[in-house]
Amino acid sequence: MDKDRIKAQIDLEWDDDEVLPEVVNPDTEFLFNRMTEATFEVVGARQGEMILDIGCGRAGDGVELARRGATVVGLEASRVMLAHAREHVNGNGAHVTLVHGVGECLPVRHQSVDKVLCKGALDHFAEPETVIGQIARALKPEGQAIIALANFESLGFKLGRRIYSVKLALGFKDGTVRMPWEPPPDHTCKFDYFLLRRMVGAYLEVEEEVGVSFLFGFPWWGAFLARCPRKIYLALLAILDKVAHRFPSLSDVVILRCRPKNGECVD
Ligand SMILES: C[S@@+](CC[C@H](N)C(=O)[O-])C[C@H]1O[C@@H](n2cnc3c(N)ncnc32)[C@H](O)[C@@H]1O
Repeated sequence: MDKDRIKAQIDLEWDDDEVLPEVVNPDTEFLFNRMTEATFEVVGARQGEMILDIGCGRAGDGVELARRGATVVGLEASRVMLAHAREHVNGNGAHVTLVHGVGECLPVRHQSVDKVLCKGALDHFAEPETVIGQIARALKPEGQAIIALANFESLGFKLGRRIYSVKLALGFKDGTVRMPWEPPPDHTCKFDYFLLRRMVGAYLEVEEEVGVSFLFGFPWWGAFLARCPRKIYLALLAILDKVAHRFPSLSDVVILRCRPKNGECVD
């Protein structure tokens, strides 16, 4: 793998401060919180196991997993995010090893890692499929990969797109620059449940799949929830999350727990 070729395709100064939404409606807040919580449930960190977090960002997850007893290594391509991560790790007095590198060329030995976490990052990578191959190579035969990613063909987005095309046909245009179902410019790939399953399935065996949150991006939904009392909107979102759990292909976020195929090492 030509590391320099990969690095040339990556924004090594990427900063999440520049992409955070200006308005955070209850559905957005719920989605991010629940995605993190559900990911931790699937990871099920155990004392002493080694977890490699690829595209670790600010290392918020790494710090929490280390608190639960895991030995965490956070790998991050952006120097800016790595600086944020260092600050967060030191500020929490946590033990997380931070490494500057790219997921397409993991600096670990074959079959040496207990668990790999890749949350909200696969659609930022220059070559997501190469990263999945690297994950399969890095995992111990009984190791696990936990991949969490936004589903751009969720029910909320599908319905939103339909309603928008009807609005357009009727001559309404609201001047929104980017619709929620269109991937942001810093994404390299538009993932949905089926593409994710296909890409992952080429290298890893999926053992568990979980859907998180339902109807994010549905027109007026976030604004409607923002007008409800907190107790009410949290109850509504929790019910929908239970539905999402059973229907990952239509949910807003998909989490997969996978293991190497037949314990094979992929070169
Ligand atoms: C949306 S952030 C997710 C951060 C974190 N996992 C979380 O859930 O908060 C995606 C991260 O992947 C990093 N990234 C992008 N391409 C990468 C690559 N090829 N290798 C490693 N990290 C990469 C970005 O710099 C960014 O910090």
